[in-house]
Amino acid sequence: MVLDANAMKKLVAEEAVKRYVKDGMNVGLGTGSTAKFMIEKIGELVKQGYNLTCAATSVQSEELAKSLGIKVVDIDEIGHLDITIDGADEVDPDMQLIKGLGGALLREKIVAAATVREIIITDESKLVEKLGTKAPLPVEVLRFGHEHTKYALERQGCKAELRMRDGKPFITDSGNYIYDCKFESIEKPFFLESRIDVIPGVVENGLFLNTAVDVLVSRPDGTVESMAERKSGEDA
Ligand code: A5P
Repeated sequence: MVLDANAMKKLVAEEAVKRYVKDGMNVGLGTGSTAKFMIEKIGELVKQGYNLTCAATSVQSEELAKSLGIKVVDIDEIGHLDITIDGADEVDPDMQLIKGLGGALLREKIVAAATVREIIITDESKLVEKLGTKAPLPVEVLRFGHEHTKYALERQGCKAELRMRDGKPFITDSGNYIYDCKFESIEKPFFLESRIDVIPGVVENGLFLNTAVDVLVSRPDGTVESMAERKSGEDA
């Protein structure tokens, strides 16, 4: 069996729901083409009678979830989320992440911060030895003074490009711009994050450090590996 990219996304999304979603939970809904399959699977559970209360990381995911009959509430109506299942753009061997190529990084980070267990679903194409080697680092910035913010971002050693869509700057769900910051590689992600976060105009960065408690990875041969299980086996 050799799965194509879409089949790998569906496989890992459904496996995550099977492993981690239990009746009665508060669930955070991620964003992106992998998360879409997870939301559809959650829709099936709701049809089977599961009582789930969900909060979404984007307007797009909220609309999909509501169309499937899933109860979606404002994040501020929930004390905490038991679990959030979300995609990623890069995953390093320590389960550190880059997210935000789908443009939802700000809400994704707020939802992750309100979550007890953040589960990442991905296929093996997103695995890297070092962050920044494949994907750019998305940084959400205020529109006001964004050229100055870009200058400060580039001082961190990257080439920063304003994200465009249909010939115009891409606008996030929160009304901001995104700069995609291409590094050769990110050698010290914690240090870089601390530098980016103090730049005036930066709203949020796409480094999700020490956030994931598990990353499920699907492979073309139809297997799904838990990075947390593998790491605990290595540590034993
Ligand atoms: C959305 O802003 C991102 O963080 C997504 O989680 C990420 O881009 C993964 O999306 P795909 O599953 O479509 O690759």
